[in-house]
Amino acid sequence: MARNTLARIDVDAVAHNLTQIRALAPDSRVMAVVKADAYGHRLDLCLPALADADILAVATLEEARAIRRLGSGLPVILLEGLIHDGDLSVATDLGLELTIHHPAQVEALERFGRAPTPRLWLKLDSGMHRLGMDAEAGREAHRRLLVLPRAEQVNLVTHFASADDDDPSTTRGQINRFREAVEGLSGELCMANSAAILAHPEARADWVRAGIMLYGISPHPERTGQSLGLKPVMTLTTELIAINHVPAGERIGYGGRFIAPEPMRIGVAGIGYGDGYPRSLVDGTPVRVGDQDCRLVGRVSMDMITIDLGNAPDARIGDQVVLWGRGLPVEQIARCADTIAYELVCRITRRVRYRAF
Ligand SMILES: Cc1ncc(COP(=O)(O)O)c(C=O)c1O
Repeated sequence: MARNTLARIDVDAVAHNLTQIRALAPDSRVMAVVKADAYGHRLDLCLPALADADILAVATLEEARAIRRLGSGLPVILLEGLIHDGDLSVATDLGLELTIHHPAQVEALERFGRAPTPRLWLKLDSGMHRLGMDAEAGREAHRRLLVLPRAEQVNLVTHFASADDDDPSTTRGQINRFREAVEGLSGELCMANSAAILAHPEARADWVRAGIMLYGISPHPERTGQSLGLKPVMTLTTELIAINHVPAGERIGYGGRFIAPEPMRIGVAGIGYGDGYPRSLVDGTPVRVGDQDCRLVGRVSMDMITIDLGNAPDARIGDQVVLWGRGLPVEQIARCADTIAYELVCRITRRVRYRAF
């Protein structure tokens, strides 16, 4: 029988989370961010639940192509725009809307002779200093884009560096800088990622750009999606493949990081960093065995982990183990790995089987 390590995807939860986003930003249209295979949740499984989104956002041409291959005719935007000039004809064939963040991309469109779609998205840098033009270059680009054949609308976009910060001043400064830069320019405004949708109502504007919330995860590492009315989409599970009795004083796992303080019943579960369960997780990381709260002890191996079954005296080989998801927030696990939940869900490897439920 195949190894029972599964990413269970709750497709209805995606639709629920989209509804929650709409309720938070009732006057905005929703750009649903599905890059990186729907943040590791699998585009093919999530897409049907996003039929109501106003546009889908991806990072790469391949991701956009995958959307079309799956039969979706929804508008699609390339968040990073074109990387190579040759991509323009592909983008036109696929009907992709482009982010224009650099004067070289304006020149490429001028050489191409027309806009690939009537709507374009001009990105301005309001302080993150990753992608986007400054106010002056933005004005010039806006003018040149609007005179391209086929171009009818140039929307205006910016991205926040610290919208999840408890101190709102950086984001407020970015909002002000962006609003000054777009003063007098035609086009709809799009600023807020998930963290800003929640913490900065003034950033919701004509469009919001929601990623992590769609998957039921809080953008704020100290909160859980559930506390925000969201439902987790991914539940990562495996099963117990062995149970051992370890005497007091014995070391468990690679490097002997954990020393049993007393005789212990240790469960071995079939998951490891080869599946995307991070090696950086510390002793004490919560794990659920059946319906009991247990804890990780010892280092995560490539294929296995070791679990203190002290709280689950009735646990048996074959019992289900939940690593994160329903009943165990991924945000909590991310803190134990000193990372963010975004990274955990994106890093599930091909070895894990996906199942919609
Ligand atoms: C440009 C841009 N907009 C929006 C998002 C969505 O952010 P979040 O997943 O925090 O909602 C991302 C995500 O990385 C992004 O790069």
